[in-house]
Amino acid sequence: MHIVHVTAEMAPLAKVGGLGDVVTGLARACLARGHRVEVLLPFYECIDISQVNDLQPGEEYNSFHRGGWVNLQVFRGGVSGVPVLFFKPANHFFRGNRIYGGSYDELEAYLFFSRAVLEYFQVLSQQPDVIHIHEWHTSGVALLYWDMYNALGLTRPRIALTIHNMEHHGECRREQLDMCGLDGGSYLVPDKAIDDRTIGHNPERGSLLKGGIVYSNVVTTVSPTYAEETLCSGWLSSALMRNREKYHGVLNGIDTVLWDPERDPHLPATFSADDLEGKRIVKHYVQRGLGLAPDLQTDPSSLTGFGDVATRQPLVVCVTRLVAQKGVHLIRHAIFRTAEQGGQFVLLGSAPDPRIQAEFQQLADQFRDNTAVRLLLTYSESLAHLLFAAADVLLVPSMFEPCGLTQMIAMRYGTIPVVRRTGGLADTVFDVDNQADQERANGYVFDGIGEGDLDSALDRALRHYKENAEEWDRLASKVMKIDNSWNKSAGQYVELYSGIRA
Ligand code: ADP
Ligand code: GLC
Repeated sequence: MHIVHVTAEMAPLAKVGGLGDVVTGLARACLARGHRVEVLLPFYECIDISQVNDLQPGEEYNSFHRGGWVNLQVFRGGVSGVPVLFFKPANHFFRGNRIYGGSYDELEAYLFFSRAVLEYFQVLSQQPDVIHIHEWHTSGVALLYWDMYNALGLTRPRIALTIHNMEHHGECRREQLDMCGLDGGSYLVPDKAIDDRTIGHNPERGSLLKGGIVYSNVVTTVSPTYAEETLCSGWLSSALMRNREKYHGVLNGIDTVLWDPERDPHLPATFSADDLEGKRIVKHYVQRGLGLAPDLQTDPSSLTGFGDVATRQPLVVCVTRLVAQKGVHLIRHAIFRTAEQGGQFVLLGSAPDPRIQAEFQQLADQFRDNTAVRLLLTYSESLAHLLFAAADVLLVPSMFEPCGLTQMIAMRYGTIPVVRRTGGLADTVFDVDNQADQERANGYVFDGIGEGDLDSALDRALRHYKENAEEWDRLASKVMKIDNSWNKSAGQYVELYSGIRA
């Protein structure tokens, strides 16, 4: 099968969050199954092209925009073994030093990109078997495809949409639809009829994501529990209910080559489920590097066991975007709680909202000379690898979480997750104190949104770590062996692709 992903992100070179990881991981898994897979990405100015193998200029052509034509150049290259096509328009779209938030109208730019991709297939006189679009950014492809082909009965449908986060839905104005050649007005009739094909929630405004839901042939989201949650609540629930037969929750996987404790080039020592010695060395390295009190005062290379119980301190980490979704109030509380309980806390967080950034910066300053807490308010791939490997506990107290990758990455590195029971967290983390489900037990889970709710799980984890070192190590080894790779889910996607291609 020939599958193309049309996306705003791809790890590692154009990544803001899990969307980038998923595109690369799923593409690689489908390539490994023998399919032809390509990723189609805007050529962001900020892309570090040294991460692209064999970058070559390709076709040049024009795409429709605002009643005229904009010239584009396509470039081809390879990223992490995946063929990538980069679309570089001659106008100002996708310029600037970051992926999102440049000085252009983002919605207009992604609608332009969506149309340019479809016109590129016309230039090639070739259609892939499946066009896999992601989030609101490329949902315009489904609308445009319908408009250009299906409505005229010209070609069979083939669009798969994956929704990674329903919070962002691409609210669009009528004139923005007009700019990319759609008749905006005809898509923005108020949403009433049961079989309606409109994307409006009022006559002036619509939602690209809703367009994706209505006009794609299959719609997925990134975990079964989030699929259920979104059918029951949220303003897109009625659109999802109407399209229920084509809506599926497929759990994300993680890229087990990129996240591999046995081969990770970011680590000072590697380790495996059968030998956790290297994990202890990484923890020591991180503690020293960040100015935290190290677990053991002796040279780690002279030690043979996992360490002296009396000098072990639980290291809790949180690797996250600092946005309301992630439960910032609980992250803040956990910093204090962990320190009070004799543990250490490291936060690696990037905050797009300046108010949240300022709040955490103030906290970071407050703990500057503290040897138990370090707040790193930045985005860093290599620090993320080090922290997942060094930590004993990973905290994910999200208010909602479509899937969540960090809990699965952490487990791959023998780090035990403490999570709130929601979305994909509920599908991947199972409480160790649930006697009825000891087989899957792999972490600590809480309900509720209060500080006491969080404490009910965090305290148990810290106590367990301090009181029973051997049992903790057994748990660490157990979670490392869990298969959260793309293996199973890639198979589910291929099945869905086959269904819409048939
Ligand atoms: P989301 O996509 O909602 O941000 P996920 O858990 O699905 O959450 O994916 C987050 C991805 O981004 C993971 O690969 C995680 O390691 C990475 N990440 C998040 N914040 C940072 C950061 N500050 N520095 C480095 N990597 C980060
Ligand atoms: C989104 C969600 C996250 C999910 C990721 C990848 O950013 O917030 O839960 O894991 O997409 O699908």
